[in-house]
Parts: sequence; structure tokens; C-alpha cells
Amino acid sequence: MERESMIEKPLRVLYVASEVYPLAKTGGLGDVSSVLPSALRQLGVDARLLIPAYRGVIAQIQGYPVSGLFSVLPSLGPVQLFRGVLPEALPGSLTPVYAVECPFLYDRLGGPYLDSYGQDWPDNALRFAVLSKVAALFGSGSGLDGWQPHIIHCNDWQTGLVPVYLAHHPEAYSCSVISIHNLAFQGNFSPDLMPVLGLPWSCFNYHGIEFYGCISYLKAGLYYADKILTVSQSYAREIQTPEFGFGLEGLLADCRGRLTGILNGIDVSRWNPSTDPYLVANYDASNLCGKLENKRELQVRMRLDPELDLPILALVTRLTEQKGVDLVLSLMVELLEQPLQVVVLGSGDKNYQLQWKVLAAQYPGRVGVAIGYDEGLAHLIEAGADLFLMPSRFEPCGLNQMYSMRYGTLPVVRRTGGLADSVVDVTPRSLLDGTATGFVFENANRSELLACLLRALLLYGNSRDWRQVQSHGMHCDFSWAASAALYLELYRTTVSARWSLV
Ligand code: ADP
Ligand code: GLC
Repeated sequence: MERESMIEKPLRVLYVASEVYPLAKTGGLGDVSSVLPSALRQLGVDARLLIPAYRGVIAQIQGYPVSGLFSVLPSLGPVQLFRGVLPEALPGSLTPVYAVECPFLYDRLGGPYLDSYGQDWPDNALRFAVLSKVAALFGSGSGLDGWQPHIIHCNDWQTGLVPVYLAHHPEAYSCSVISIHNLAFQGNFSPDLMPVLGLPWSCFNYHGIEFYGCISYLKAGLYYADKILTVSQSYAREIQTPEFGFGLEGLLADCRGRLTGILNGIDVSRWNPSTDPYLVANYDASNLCGKLENKRELQVRMRLDPELDLPILALVTRLTEQKGVDLVLSLMVELLEQPLQVVVLGSGDKNYQLQWKVLAAQYPGRVGVAIGYDEGLAHLIEAGADLFLMPSRFEPCGLNQMYSMRYGTLPVVRRTGGLADSVVDVTPRSLLDGTATGFVFENANRSELLACLLRALLLYGNSRDWRQVQSHGMHCDFSWAASAALYLELYRTTVSARWSLV
């Protein structure tokens, strides 16, 4: 391929992900996958998505087959490729979606990764190897559906095998980049799988996909991709240290020349208090009356006492140790000595779920808990609450602090990862120069979190300063425009670097 034709416009990007809102979502990756490709398309990139055809996906994208049945891995049945469009895309941008149909791997009740009992699907290694192999077929030989991407953008361990498959294909064409959304999940599997994956044993070693005797899908991606991305600059630095590296810090430090942090944006049309259809009243920075209406509704929905003057502290999250849920639980009794209410929406660790339910029973009218996943309630909480808690032990980016600022709900965050990069602590100085947007504390321990919360409650009592911080957060620009431009630049340099070597 000539260099000129390789980097001709438009740049073609295949964005491969295991979850995409509204088709499948368990967390922030689903949000990012749905909006970043749209934002890239608005910059003139031919960005398309590739996902597994989980149950119902083909109907939702109004998909039609663009291939016959074809085989991807030895000893595994055939798959078929469908094409459709992403529902609810950004206005004016219809993102094409390819879905890999393989009913015995994807068409089942339950989530993308877990069954209905919360256990990992036992065949996850195969489910995501198939997705990765199909992505690699797009980037090698003559492509699929008559389309070959310049860049395949992989996300997390579920797509980590893409760069390896490309590296072992004689006609590889595409460059690959991989985004780390969470280093804690690595996709480590038994080496017995090697023959099924169709990869040579030569890549199962320290300089390859082996990690402590296992096949690591994430390490595979990091090792073989042209570029490694993560979702904030702070997290890009942190993951090169033992505290945050989950054993991969050495590799990441060695790779720092091809590691970049770009802060996620948010979907400012879906998360917009002045148009959000999940709210009972819309509002904006110039008139916050609607926010109070949402607080009233939230108190009704969560069975809290109808006391509009009390601050509501909120938590919407996966209930895991990463999110510091145990820290919040540990200080609840002390915190509830203050005049305030607490709402929690989340699911995850059974022990945390139980502890929250017990607290709700002990403090009726003051603690409201909803266990489960509820997109609409998450929006109402952002609008109706006053403070949003994110005391994460680590947080690659975090989206809820940005949603909170946009909804005039002040975030309380630990200074880590994307939280450190997006929230400006309230101090006398930041209040004076008008840059304050929330409350930040340093270390993940109970006393620092409590002190920070008490500081936040103190400011709640000063309505003039509170309004100022609310207003500044609501005016911050968290849209994807700036970050998408950085991705585009990175794709361009990656493609040029590859092809200038030819
Ligand atoms: P993570 O991806 O680590 O879970 P993020 O802050 O990046 O954290 O994104 C979490 C996303 O998932 C947000 O859109 C948040 O509103 C949503 N979310 C988390 N838990 C729930 C829940 N129980 N119900 C509804 N939405 C949830
Ligand atoms: C992960 C991270 C979260 C990030 C999200 C999207 O789930 O835990 O911090 O915001 O991915 O990148």
C-alpha cells in the first residue's frame, strides 16, 4: 500500500468495545464507546463500532447481514457479521455499528460479562477472542464489508488480542491502539487455551502475552499495540507505579514512550439538565428552581422525608472496593449525626448491598437505597442531590463527577486519576478566583473523607459561595470536542509513523 493512499482522507477507525450505550452498559466504558466515535465522525473521521451481538442488539441497530457465515477460530462454529446504526447517537451523526453474531456465545440472558448470579461467564475467554479476531480480520487481508480501517481502537482486556492477531497476520494493514479504562481487569486465562485461540506458542512468553503463567489479554494488547492510551493524564502516570499498576507497572513504565493519557469527555446532549427527559423539571445555571423540583421528586422516589433544606449526599456506582464504598459505609453513623440525607443507587458486592439495605432500614426517611441498575434514576439523582461522593481508591477517569458538575451537584472526590484532573478543590483562593468546582481530599481513609465532607457541609450553609461553585461547575466544558481532537491527532501520528517506515 502506498503511503499516500494509506493516510488519505477520511481517516478510518474501527472502535471495538464490549459495551456501548444504549445497547449494553455496565459502566463508563459503555458511555465512552457510544459518544467518542460520534464525536470523531463530527471531525470527519469515518469511525465505526464493532461489538458482540448480545441478545437484542441486531434488532436495536436494525442490522442486516453483510457477510455469509465464516469461521474465525479453529474448532469453533462460524460467525456472521451484521451492520446497522447506533440508536440515540449525537445529533447529525449516525455511527455505523457492526455486530458479530454468534448465538451460542452472545445470545443469552444476563450481562456482557456476568450471568444473572453475578458470576463471570465461563466462556468469556472465547467470547472476547472471537470479537478480537473479527476486529483483526477487518484490519488484514481485504478487510470485511469492503472496508479496511487505518486504526483499530481497542478497549480494555476484552479486545486485547486484536493487536496480537494483527501481529501474526501475514497481510496486516491496520495500526492498533488500546485504551485502558481499568487496569484491575486483565482477562487472565489458562495457557491450555492457546490452541483454541489460534496463536503460535512463540508468543506465549514474557515478551508477549504471558503474565505469571497465564495468557493475559490485557498484557497482550499493551505489548503489541502501536499506542497505549488511558483516560486521564494522572492515571497514565499512576499506572507506572506499583500502587496502581496491578503488576503491569514495569511493562507500562517501559512503554511510556507510546503511552498517552487523554481525559474522557461526556455526552453533553444526553447529560444536560436543561433538556434531560428523565427529570421532572429542567433547569440551567441561570435558574436553578428546577433543581429543587427534582430534589422533591427524589425524596418521594427514595422515601426520604420531604425536607428541602437538608443537603442530599449521593452515590451512584458499582458497589466495589475501587469506589471506596467501604469508606463511606464506615463513617455513615457519624455522618448521620449531621442534618442531611443520603441516597445510594448501585449494585455489586453482596456484602456492600446488604450493609446499605441495613442502613436504610435503621434510618428511615434519611437514607434511601436502590440496589440495581437504573439509568433514569441515575439522572434524577444527579439533578436532585447536592453532593456527589466519589472517594475512589483509583479512578482512571470517572464520569459521574463531570455529570455532577454539569447538574450543579458538587462532587466530593479523592485526588486520583481523572478525578484529580477534573475537579478543582474549594479553597479560599479558588473561591476568590472563581475556579472551585468541588471538594478534593488526598488519601483513601475514613478520617480524610469525613473531614472533606464536613468541609462540604460547611459550605452548604453559605448559599452565596455554594451558588458560585455550582455555577462554575455548570459552565465548565466537559464535551468531547477537545478530547476527540487529541485522539484524531494521535491516530494521525500513529498512521504516519507506521507508513513512513515502509
Ligand atoms: P465506572 O465505569 O468505573 O463504573 P464511571 O464514573 O466512568 O465509572 O461511569 C459509571 C457510569 O455508570 C455512569 O454513567 C453512571 O451513571 C453509571 N452507573 C453506575 N452504576 C449505576 C447504576 N446502579 N444505575 C445506573 N447507572 C449507573
Ligand atoms: C472505567 C473506569 C472509569 C472510567 C471509565 C470510562 O470503568 O473505572 O474511571 O471513567 O472506565 O473510561
